[in-house]
This record gives sequence, structure tokens and C-alpha cells, in this order.
Amino acid sequence: MIYTVTLNPALDYHMYIDNLQLGEVSRAQSVSLNYGGKGINVSALLTRLGIPNLALGFAAGITGRLFLKSLIRQGIPQDFILLKEGTTRINVKIHADAKDTDLNAPGPRIPRSAADTLIERMRHLSLGDALVLSGSMPSCLPVDFYGTLIQALPPRILTAIDAEGSSLRATLPLHPFVIKPNLRELEELVGHSCPTQEAVHSAAQSLQAAGAQNVLVSMGAQGAFLLDAEGHTHLQAAPEGTVIQTVGCGDSMLAGFLSRWLEQQDYDDALTFAVACGSATAFSSHLAERDDIWNLYKMLRQS
Ligand SMILES: Nc1ncnc2c1ncn2[C@@H]1O[C@H](COP(=O)(O)OP(=O)(O)OP(=O)(O)O)[C@@H](O)[C@H]1O
Ligand SMILES: [Mg+2]
Repeated sequence: MIYTVTLNPALDYHMYIDNLQLGEVSRAQSVSLNYGGKGINVSALLTRLGIPNLALGFAAGITGRLFLKSLIRQGIPQDFILLKEGTTRINVKIHADAKDTDLNAPGPRIPRSAADTLIERMRHLSLGDALVLSGSMPSCLPVDFYGTLIQALPPRILTAIDAEGSSLRATLPLHPFVIKPNLRELEELVGHSCPTQEAVHSAAQSLQAAGAQNVLVSMGAQGAFLLDAEGHTHLQAAPEGTVIQTVGCGDSMLAGFLSRWLEQQDYDDALTFAVACGSATAFSSHLAERDDIWNLYKMLRQS
């Protein structure tokens, strides 16, 4: 079973507006509502691949109930903790005059008792399970909360981390199985730019020296780089295709890497499958479907 954690899920309300006038009334031409968070994207992709998974996290209020209903509708198994106060946030994404503006709301306050319930939940994972921790840390939780979750796990549970800055850094001494920075996040972590393959390699080595077992660096249209736990490097170019949107590409890639590695224990193969998942999502209007992923994977294996 692969467990995912989404601490601060959101309803994303997209508004498409032709002529936005700040301070005036503007009418949207169309709108759409998406439910999610990075952990939810991982769970959704695993569900599409037919991999057993369980989404964990916090939801609150009427928007939280809508969010949980959407998980049920998508067939995503969940065991979210319902907070007694507050509401799951609604983020407004305005697409106006060829510019995108994100208005991101704070999430509900997570009381100590709810945080403790999630920590306690970690104690019940068993050997062979894996845990994915992805997304930003809500400001009401300590920055090392992911580390606290990892420390509550029984021994030898694989962990995958997709987070930024200090919340990721705090997990390194706990030897996460894999971390998945994109190029920008990698540069931010090591404090300098990584314009060449050698620079990416040495940045990954420094994160490995700090404790990560595998460092998976996603590089958008350039594919991905892996420094594996045995010190070997792997590179997989992304396939060519028509990019429709890139939201959730990194989440798809992490879902693919972890699930394939658990099945085959082959780094090269897991990286190829990861890139197939990420790119299949880039070539889709939302997260990739199973058949598109397998078709891209077979194409990459043959090339
Ligand atoms: N333009 C693209 N063309 C083909 N594949 C892409 C493109 N952008 C992303 N991908 C695929 O998705 C993977 C992950 O992408 P990226 O590095 O953009 O992740 P990310 O920045 O973490 O994404 P996010 O956090 O928004 O989910 C890439 O390794 C690649 O396989
Ligand atoms: Mg990302």
C-alpha cells in the first residue's frame, strides 16, 4: 500500500476573464473547479494505474466535505482527518488577458490533537508499505513536521518527499528513500545555479551526502536525472509531444517512480516509467490516463 499525505488540500476555482478591471465588476467567460493538492495528485495517478493507495491529510468544513466527495467520485481511497473548525481553502486562479494570477488562501488551523492523530496513524503502516509526503507545510505546523511523521513510522518503510526548502531539508537526516526536487528546487536547496549535467550531478551528490538515498531531479521538457542509492546516475529524456498543461507532472512522475520501483526494484526502469507518467500528464488536459502512460513507457523503452 502506498500512503500519501496532503496536509493542506484546496479547491482550485479557475476563472477565465477577457477584460479584467481591478476595482470594477468583471464577468468571467467560463469557470472550472478542481480539487486537489500534490499528495492527492499522487494518489489519483496511483489509482489510475491500479496501485493500492490511501490518501491521508486534513479537511475541514463544507469545502472539506466537497473535497472528500470528489475523492470518492474519482475512486481515490481516503482516510482524511476531519477538523472541527475552519474550512478547507478555496484558491482562485484568474486567467485574464493572457496572464495568470493565483490568489492562494491559508488553510484551516490544524490543532495539536489532529496533528497527533496523523502522527499516530504512521505507527500503523507495515513492512512493504511506502509513504509519500508532498506539498508545502501549513504555517500552523512546525517546519520539521514531515520529519516527525517519518520518525513515527515502523522501521524500513520507504518514504518519498516532494517539498521545498526547509521542510524538505529537515527530512534529510532521516534518510528518505527518494526526494524529488525539480531543477529550480534543486538550485534553491544547494544555493547555486545548476546549468550543466555535471552541476546537477554534484548538487544531487551533496543532497545524498546530507542523507537522501535516491535523488530524482525532474527537468521539465528535458526529462529527468536520477542519482541512485548505489551512486549510479541515470538520465531519461522526455518524449516529444504536444504539451497541454504541466500541473501535476512532478506528482505523476513521483507516483510512477515509487510504484514501479516497488514492483521491479530496477532504477533505470523506474526512471523511464516515471518520465512516461510525467510526460503523459503534460500531454493531457488533467492527470494522465493509464493507457497513455503505458504507451509512452513502451515507446521510451524501444528508443
Ligand atoms: N514540456 C514537457 N514536455 C514533456 N514532458 C514534460 C514537460 N514538462 C514536464 N514533463 C514531464 O514531467 C516530469 C516532471 O516535470 P517537472 O520537472 O516540470 O516537475 P515539477 O516542476 O515538479 O512539476 P509540478 O510540481 O508542477 O507537478 C518531467 O520529468 C517530464 O517527464
Ligand atoms: Mg514539483
